[in-house]
Amino acid sequence: LHRIFSGIQPTGNLTLGNYLGAIRNWVTLQHEFECIYCVVDQHALTVGPEPSALREATRQVAAALIACGIDPQKNVLFNQSQNPDHTELAWYFNCVARMGWLNRMTQFKEKAGKNRENASTGLFVYPNLMAADILAYRATHVPVGEDQKQHLELARDIAIKFNNDWKVEDFFPVVEPQILGEATRVMSLRDGTAKMSKSDPSDMSRINLTDDADTIAKKIKKAKTDPENLPTEKAGFEGRPEAQNLVTIYAALTGTTVDQALADIGGSQFGAFKQKLADAAVAHLSPITTEMNRLLEDRAEIDRLLVKGGERARALSAPVLKDVRETLGLVTG
Ligand code: TYM
Repeated sequence: LHRIFSGIQPTGNLTLGNYLGAIRNWVTLQHEFECIYCVVDQHALTVGPEPSALREATRQVAAALIACGIDPQKNVLFNQSQNPDHTELAWYFNCVARMGWLNRMTQFKEKAGKNRENASTGLFVYPNLMAADILAYRATHVPVGEDQKQHLELARDIAIKFNNDWKVEDFFPVVEPQILGEATRVMSLRDGTAKMSKSDPSDMSRINLTDDADTIAKKIKKAKTDPENLPTEKAGFEGRPEAQNLVTIYAALTGTTVDQALADIGGSQFGAFKQKLADAAVAHLSPITTEMNRLLEDRAEIDRLLVKGGERARALSAPVLKDVRETLGLVTG
């Protein structure tokens, strides 16, 4: 059995990192497998967004996913809060996961920063809700970017401990992360050692799926580089994270490998390469941006699609939650 689940937070603009690291793979997988894709609006609450911004971002992300090629009829596409089974299962997982496990999560440490006492407890148990998202459907495979690997290991630990503690062998599957493609960790355009992120304060650090052609070209032109020409083979990226990042993005956008890309463009000056990269990025992203804007003209239709998706999702998770309640000894009448 092969069932795919993945999620994405509605916080700010989607970036080229989200696209190359995750969404593009979601699109490919939908042709082969049963897929459930979720806009995780309740995860976004851990950092306290404005209600109007959250609502708008949820619709934007849904529109972006559809514009990127996710078919909302073929797949189950919905926002998390429309299926309360996720948060119910997350509570049970709060009772399974150990403080020590969560204390090791690097994303919590980064997001909570120095003032940990002031981080929401939701931010701390965030990975438990993520495990619940996946396991509420007994999903087996989870396509994500590199940065979610640790969270998925926690989801595996939760599944294993649940199965052991209640002596229910194979009750929850031990999920497999799918970290696919050339660009599993797209870095900032301003700093090749930092992840490209929707929450980076500098908009110049990322390419957003909403950026127009001129903005994309400008951001790539200004992207940080070094004084050397491009290397001719991968070993030449040593100590040159910006060069490596830009070539990786180029390879991913043009559907080739980094080795092949270097065979083609290795040795070029950054100026000439950046022009090629900008052309590739615009060619790839502008149809997506146009379609996304078209979809956003009818927000009521997006909401209708999400509600329908939520109903389909709940039909899939309801039997699992029923089993869970029974296993735990909850009286259900
Ligand atoms: P989020 O919303 O931060 O990112 C969504 C997806 O995009 C990937 N990604 C990247 N990939 C490559 N390079 C980057 N710079 C980059 N930035 C983001 C992420 O790895 C992710 O796959 N906790 C998750 C959302 C989530 C989830 C889940 C995922 C909630 N429940 C269940 C899978 C299964 C998150 O914050 O992703």
